This record gives sequence, structure tokens and C-alpha cells, in this order.
Amino acid sequence: MGTRFLPATKAIPKEMLPIVDVPTIQYIVEEAVESGIEEILIITNSNKHCMENHFDRSYELESRLTESNKQEECDMICNIANMANIYYVRQKEPKGLGHAILCAKSFIGEEPFAVLLGDDVVENNNGKPALKQLIDAYNEVQASVVGVQTVSDEDVNKYGIVEPSKSSSPVGKRVKLSSMVEKPAREEAPSNLAVLGRYVLTPEIFDFLENQTPGAGGEIQLTDSIKSLMISQSVYAYDFEGIRYDVGDKFGFIKATVEYAMEREELKDKLKAYLRELVKTF
Ligand code: G1P
Repeated sequence: MGTRFLPATKAIPKEMLPIVDVPTIQYIVEEAVESGIEEILIITNSNKHCMENHFDRSYELESRLTESNKQEECDMICNIANMANIYYVRQKEPKGLGHAILCAKSFIGEEPFAVLLGDDVVENNNGKPALKQLIDAYNEVQASVVGVQTVSDEDVNKYGIVEPSKSSSPVGKRVKLSSMVEKPAREEAPSNLAVLGRYVLTPEIFDFLENQTPGAGGEIQLTDSIKSLMISQSVYAYDFEGIRYDVGDKFGFIKATVEYAMEREELKDKLKAYLRELVKTF
């Protein structure tokens, strides 16, 4: 519901807040597309219809841009609408991530699928996108893979934390799991490996999501169903490369904004000079 970003999110969904000039949802969709995904389902709610406009053609804007010889801008706007086949389904009540994923059941059918959370933007500077790294790992093991990175002891209570299996050793950046827990207290966390918003899951997850009772925070948790899936199927964690920004958090959003702006040719020199001056005042 974007409560951490009120009042900005009173009328605008948090997924449409721009990092520099691109809405966060577009970064997520681009990562999926760059990872080879062609069909995308966005789980929305009744306040999020402007996302549909963003990924649609806008003939009026396109013709105005063409008339004023702004062909580059026009092409950019068109490309957003042609990136992938994007579908939408509404989650009718905010019952948690597990419940949101369950809304995709009939869209997914019997195939493995990827999940990308809108709050987690991952940048891997021209390297393999985080999701592609997970898809490659999936192709090696033919089993569900969750994307993890190490977090500090103070932060384990914000995430799904995985428990690597003691009976199998890691293969490169991939490790088999024996359990998983959503937002554990520091003293109960089985490791410091946190799930950071990227998953490749087998469709059997829906069998568990359908019967999942509320867990941490009174919500239907994806983590709890993945833990149940481990009883019948192997599940792996993959320690992906890339910098992940929690753009659902104000400070994470500001960091992403500054760092993405630093990557822009038209902004980076001005921004660097400005920041140099600014730090002198601290
Ligand atoms: C969700 C998941 C959690 C995961 C996190 C990553 O939590 O439930 O397991 O670690 O995203 O951002 P949320 O941040 O929605 O509470």
C-alpha cells in the first residue's frame, strides 16, 4: 500500500515513483525482459491502473512528439509498450506476498516461473541481470531457486532468511536449503542470507499457497510455502551478483536515485560537482 511513502503514494502507486526519470516498475520489467522473460503478469490493486497506461501505447503523446520532431522521445515511449506481453490481475485484499502470488495461479499453469518484487531494484552494471543468474541456476538444478545476499545481524528481521543444508556443500554461488523463515528475530535467524526479491519457483508452490495459513505479520507468506515445498522438492539459494536497492524504503530510494543519476552521462558531472560542494557543508 506504499504507507512508507505517504503522502506521495496517496494517489500514485509506489511502483510509479521515478528513480531519476524511470518509474521503479519499469526497471523491474526491464530486468525480466533482459533475462529472457516474454510474458509478464503484474499483480496490482484498484489504485494502480496508471501502471497499465505506462506500459500501453499513447497515440496522442506519440503524435505530438513526432510533430515536434522529438523522434528519440517518441521511440522511447513506444518501446516501453513493446517490451513484453504484460498482463494484470488485481489482488483484491492486501493479504500478503503469498496471497499475491496465488493470484497468478491460472496465468502460470504448470510451468516454472519467476517472481520479482517491486520494492527490490537490482543493478548489475552491464553484468548478467539478477533474475538471469537465477534462471541459469534453475536450468542446472531443475528446482526452485531463491536469490539471496548476506545482510547484517541487525537486518535479518526484515527478510526471509534461508537455512543452508548441512548435508550438501555449496556449488559455486548455489547452495541447497533445508529451511527458511520469514523475518526471524536476530537470535533465531538460521543464517545471514536474506531473500532479496527474486525467485524462480516450480508450479507446485501453488499447492501450498492455496492452503497457507497467515504467518509473520498476520500475512500469507511466500516464505512459509517455500519451506513446505522443501519437503517434497529440493530448493536452492543463489547468492546473486548486483547491488540491490530497497526502493520501498525512503533511504534506499534516495540511494538508488543518487547512484542511478551518477550513471547518466547528462547528469553525472553536474551531480558529482554538486555533491563535492555539499559534503563541505557537513
Ligand atoms: C518480502 C518477503 C521477504 C523478502 C523481502 C525482500 O518481504 O516476504 O521474505 O526477504 O520481501 O524485499 P516484505 O519486504 O514485503 O515485507
